[in-house]
Amino acid sequence: SKETSNTSVPREQWGSRFGFLLAAAGSAVGLGNIWRFPFVVGEGGGAAFVLLYLGFVLLIGLPLMIGEISIGRRGRANAMDSYKIIQPNSKWYINGFIGVIINFMILAFYSVVAGWAFYYFILALTGQLIASDKDFESSFSSFISDPIMPIVWQTILMTVVVLIVLRGVKKGIEKWNNILMPTLFVLLLILLFKSLTLENAREGILFFLKPNFSAINSGIILAALGQAFFSLSVATGMYVTYGSYKRNESSIARNGGGIVLLDVLVAIMAGLIIFPAVFHFGIDPGRGPDLAFITFPTIFRDMQFGIMFAGFFFFFVFVAALTSAISLLEVVVAFVKEKFKLSRKVAAPITGAVITLVGGFCALSFGPLSHIKVFDRTIFGLFDFIAAEVLLPFSGLILSIFIGWIWKPIGVKQEIEKEGNSFPLFKVWSFLIRFVVPIVILIILIDSIGII
Ligand code: PFF
Repeated sequence: SKETSNTSVPREQWGSRFGFLLAAAGSAVGLGNIWRFPFVVGEGGGAAFVLLYLGFVLLIGLPLMIGEISIGRRGRANAMDSYKIIQPNSKWYINGFIGVIINFMILAFYSVVAGWAFYYFILALTGQLIASDKDFESSFSSFISDPIMPIVWQTILMTVVVLIVLRGVKKGIEKWNNILMPTLFVLLLILLFKSLTLENAREGILFFLKPNFSAINSGIILAALGQAFFSLSVATGMYVTYGSYKRNESSIARNGGGIVLLDVLVAIMAGLIIFPAVFHFGIDPGRGPDLAFITFPTIFRDMQFGIMFAGFFFFFVFVAALTSAISLLEVVVAFVKEKFKLSRKVAAPITGAVITLVGGFCALSFGPLSHIKVFDRTIFGLFDFIAAEVLLPFSGLILSIFIGWIWKPIGVKQEIEKEGNSFPLFKVWSFLIRFVVPIVILIILIDSIGII
């Protein structure tokens, strides 16, 4: 069949036309929205950062995403080989390989935080999370600085991820996303209502929504760009990989718009929940990676049925983290399996084990290894920075040149318009991908040299 990959085994495909949409949305919506977004907004000084982020999502993230999905569906191969199929005898595939490295690096530190979330879910389930006299700051910091427990949770989490990826796209990834994604909204809406009715909510809302542009600097611009890439999972090869399992009859352009909308909505809701509470309870918005883990339990403690909501909430965070971690592992596994001609059953556990091992160092950098600093960053911070703020924008730059100038907009158009699908705003997209995306990224990257 024409759906075969270079391993000559029939290539897997999503079971339904929603398979891709749910899985890609599952990848995009994750800790990046609930954990990372609030703390980088806090560090970036609030609303001006949020506006930059929104601008980058629309003008850079969405156009790249549409192109990336098209590469996968056209290539029908892993993140690297899909480039080779579109442009044989060229070196563009190296960008696909960079994507594999990015996924590897992100999963190494992402699994640490996902492990924390898993632990908090279990704590909430067993009613131990929000005891009234608990000091959330010190209990969280003693947990993450422990030399053993964070690694134990990280390993448990990675085992679950490996087991799901092992089962392949239809029975593993797609089935789980179908079950797990839909619970999200009701829960966030309830929390939103709670947070917005807190005393001093106004101050938090203003911090989040009323921009002060004088605070903007190169570091903040780069951070907002990095957050846009990270949150959308764009330029990682995820859309190539998931797109390669996509059926021709489902619409790339419409799916892209839907994913962006959902992802932004969840991030904004998370911000509107966290910041009113941050100001109400007197938490420092710029405190860093533990912001969400301290703020949410505080909200629950203050709430009717808080224990129950805490359970649901951390279940959702855990699930959101899981579906993203699945996609991170899948990109690397799809590559390893096709490159070394291994079966999924062999490739998934080996890849998972190596990533967990490397990720262990990220976990320890909150405790025993916290003294190790490179460019003034911990190991964890360094992994995050290199992946999100260096490699992602760089890879996005190469991606835009490949799509806009090598494959060319007309090639993408033909792929997208298969089976009668439409490509609304094609001309706008084409202008963005050829000019706006590469030029803006390039300027930001050059402007940031020196802030490493
Ligand atoms: N977008 C995910 C999140 O916001 O949590 C993280 C992520 C997943 C980044 C997959 C990159 C990726 F390829």
